[in-house]
Amino acid sequence: MSKLRLGVNIDHVATVRNARGGNTPDPVRAAKLAEDAGADGITAHLREDRRHIGDADIDALMDALTVPLNFEMAATDEMQKIALRHKPHAVCIVPEKREERTTEGGLEVAREENQLAHFIAPLRDAGCRVSIFIAADQRQIEAAHRIGAQVIELHTGAYCDAHAEGDFATRDAELEKMREMSTFAHSLGLEVHAGHGLTYDTVKPVAAFPEVMELNIGHFLIGESIFRGLQPAMAEMRRLMDEAREV
Ligand code: PXP
Repeated sequence: MSKLRLGVNIDHVATVRNARGGNTPDPVRAAKLAEDAGADGITAHLREDRRHIGDADIDALMDALTVPLNFEMAATDEMQKIALRHKPHAVCIVPEKREERTTEGGLEVAREENQLAHFIAPLRDAGCRVSIFIAADQRQIEAAHRIGAQVIELHTGAYCDAHAEGDFATRDAELEKMREMSTFAHSLGLEVHAGHGLTYDTVKPVAAFPEVMELNIGHFLIGESIFRGLQPAMAEMRRLMDEAREV
């Protein structure tokens, strides 16, 4: 099986920095550490309210990184302009609500197909790989394919939440849906990524799906790095991913 890429999401280094309003801890320093530890990419979400990553972080990441930046953004004109200015390797279009604590669900692609098709066209033309963050739902995957996305990222949140709550029937049903939908998306020619809420306890079954090419993991890794350091925290995640993959 092909080696699975690990994208490290550094948003929550910025969350800690912003709690005090100063310059530390620096998310770009964390991104460079992650890069040195073998991250295959860095993910950062510039939210409309700038609650964690800020515009200057994106400028600095674009200058500093040698691995690809996956720029997460809502489908707004402001974010499209920023993405077109920077032309990151990938843009991941996510739903965004001001009141949510994190990205709660996948994007409603099917309902907004025409607008989204127009929205992503210039990003594709600029050379960005366009990824759409969606639930494991056939209708949404078909719509993502029709609008011209090259990648889908499956939202693993419901699976991870069910595991954390000890609701193993729901967890296993969510996992099964993701398994079927990653095969389906792959059959349409879409590249399949996955992420949200993954931990050491939940990563292996998702990493074992042969169609999944990349996992994007943030909150747990940044939290775990308080106890072990970022590089050892990542090394353990990498070990579990490779074990699941038997590479
Ligand atoms: N992938 C996407 C599209 C996300 O929105 C997020 C959260 O920002 C992640 C992955 C990473 O999720 P977590 O921080 O829970 O690992």
